[in-house]
Amino acid sequence: MDLPFGGAISTYFTKEAPKEVRESIKRADGDDILNPTFPYTEEMKRKAYEAEMKALQIELAKMQSWLGEVGQRVVVVMEGRDAAGKGSTIKRFTENLNPRRARIVALGKPTESERTQWYFQRYIDHLPSGGEIVFYDRSWYNRGVVEKVFGFCTDGERERFFEQVGPFEQSLVGDGIRLFKFWLNVGRAEQLRRFMDRENDMLKQWKLSQIDVDGLKKWDEYSDAIRETLTRSHSTVAPWTIIRSDDKRRARLAAIRTVLHNLDYARKDKKALGKIDKSICGGPDLWD
Ligand code: ADP
Ligand code: AMP
Ligand code: MLT
Repeated sequence: MDLPFGGAISTYFTKEAPKEVRESIKRADGDDILNPTFPYTEEMKRKAYEAEMKALQIELAKMQSWLGEVGQRVVVVMEGRDAAGKGSTIKRFTENLNPRRARIVALGKPTESERTQWYFQRYIDHLPSGGEIVFYDRSWYNRGVVEKVFGFCTDGERERFFEQVGPFEQSLVGDGIRLFKFWLNVGRAEQLRRFMDRENDMLKQWKLSQIDVDGLKKWDEYSDAIRETLTRSHSTVAPWTIIRSDDKRRARLAAIRTVLHNLDYARKDKKALGKIDKSICGGPDLWD
């Protein structure tokens, strides 16, 4: 099998990865959590996960029909490092929803013409109408993180972004849109383990990009850009929810619960909803 990017991920693993990262991947069994500071040592068991997920998807269906009845609009911003689990978390949200009123927006890099527009413009095009929930798989926060790390914007453009993002989000919320901002936080070894998985799985290879390959060497630059972004864009009106996603099952459950807990949809079953796991889901202090 031809490996994408000439096998750059496994080459990085054998030749360049920090020793502790490599060792922790080698040592681990499939369901071991690699991050030593994660509050659990093993991934959540499949059976328990599936049972909880099913209950939550039923609540999501109720939530969606309520959205349609009252004409509410919901925006979910899903952010995180490469391989943090953005796409798969969104997929669990939408799995059993009516696709006509649950949309996923995953924009590519801006075109020449988009580059001449106001930075937020192309994202605005996809905002929800009444009764819709829209998931942004990556968002305007590209300017805070990946564009900084790879030099895709100038410092001036980035400063302008930070000046505008607060008022921009306030306008959305002020107009009645329910806005959720998730930052999925994955550890370094777990990220590399997922990249290697993607490199070797024909069904996942499309998820790898040159940015992922080049980003491997930029872990610390990412950390600085993320820290600054979370600090400068966390507000009462538009707070970040940080979810530690080293265990993707617990992370997905926590994300869905956060949305459901915060919406007063009809026929809510609080017991089925369950509790948000505060040890992996909370405010910016959970980010490290
Ligand atoms: P993903 O991880 O979302 O599959 P990539 O890893 O290829 O995508 O890229 C990460 C992000 O960086 C994407 O949102 C992409 O649009 C953005 N990006 C890539 N190249 C550029 C560029 N030249 N200018 C601005 N953004 C870019
Ligand atoms: P704010 O709501 O903007 O006042 O932010 C709340 C607090 O969280 C501030 O004291 C920030 O410095 C802190 N904070 C925000 N983001 C992070 C982060 N990524 N890591 C640590 N602390 C943060
Ligand atoms: C993710 O896992 O966070 C997303 O699928 C994005 C990616 O890394 O390609």
